[in-house]
Amino acid sequence: MAVTESAERKRKTARGKTSRKQTKSPSRKVAMTKSQVEIKRVSPALGAEILNVDLREDLLDDTIAQIRKALVENSLVLIRDQDITPEQHVAFSRRFGKLEIHVLTEYLLKGHKEILVLSNLKKNSKLFGRAGVGNYWHSDLQYMPKPSLGSILRAHEVPEIGGDTMFANQFLAYDALSDGMKELLAGLRVVHDFAKARYRSPQPYSDKAMKKTRPVTHPAIRTHPESGRKALYVSPGFALRFDGMTEEESEPIFEFLYEHAVDPRFVYRHKWRANDIVFWDNRSLMHNAVQDYDLQKDRRHMHRTTISGDEPF
Ligand code: SIN
Repeated sequence: MAVTESAERKRKTARGKTSRKQTKSPSRKVAMTKSQVEIKRVSPALGAEILNVDLREDLLDDTIAQIRKALVENSLVLIRDQDITPEQHVAFSRRFGKLEIHVLTEYLLKGHKEILVLSNLKKNSKLFGRAGVGNYWHSDLQYMPKPSLGSILRAHEVPEIGGDTMFANQFLAYDALSDGMKELLAGLRVVHDFAKARYRSPQPYSDKAMKKTRPVTHPAIRTHPESGRKALYVSPGFALRFDGMTEEESEPIFEFLYEHAVDPRFVYRHKWRANDIVFWDNRSLMHNAVQDYDLQKDRRHMHRTTISGDEPF
């Protein structure tokens, strides 16, 4: 009898807790609890898959905290089988910070300006997204005074073969440098410019977009604001030269760093499936969208949100 009463008391307490949450939002009823989130590493270099999360739900703060922790520890989180709407994509992204409105405004999703459309699909024979972009190593918004914290890419359609995205762990790249190189880079800043990538894609950046950016400088080595770990922060995508040096003087050091930074030991290559969500940390990774599929025949359609970050230090 005593056992039954105690069990009943526990059930009542549990019901009470659930109904308190439900008064805030009915969908929280099915949101994940701490014990249900599973985290599984996907490669030695970086990345973890998060299981048992449904992004159509209004997730508990605790679940969001676990995803954020997984991001800081693994630099990338993958959540598969998420058939979410643009509203749900934006709502999930907002749980991690303010969202950027990309300077390439002609490729923002109608009605959802927080979403940048990366796509080679056409409407009335016209591309409506950015096709075949990001196919060079870079970190998102590295050319801005406050580059992005992280990006959340949602795959709608992917080629059967090809169109992978590679990610390189810049904590590991930093750790593997000699003490001499670490010391040299510690005193250096890099000039980054959006204009460097202007003509790299089939759709060059518009004059309007170019007016919204100007060259910026950031430290060559940045400290992650959440973990305190140091990461190499130089990318061939946008780096022009070291501050206070000419391009010719900078080039030999850049050449060494670019090769070093993407050593295969530091790289994870993500093979996309439709409804994958990949959330990467721009403060510790570079990425490169591999342009090995047929832009005219294959279909690759993605939506990206970009979370605002802080000034690197
Ligand atoms: C990007 O955000 O740079 C593009 C990533 C991708 O399309 O895989």
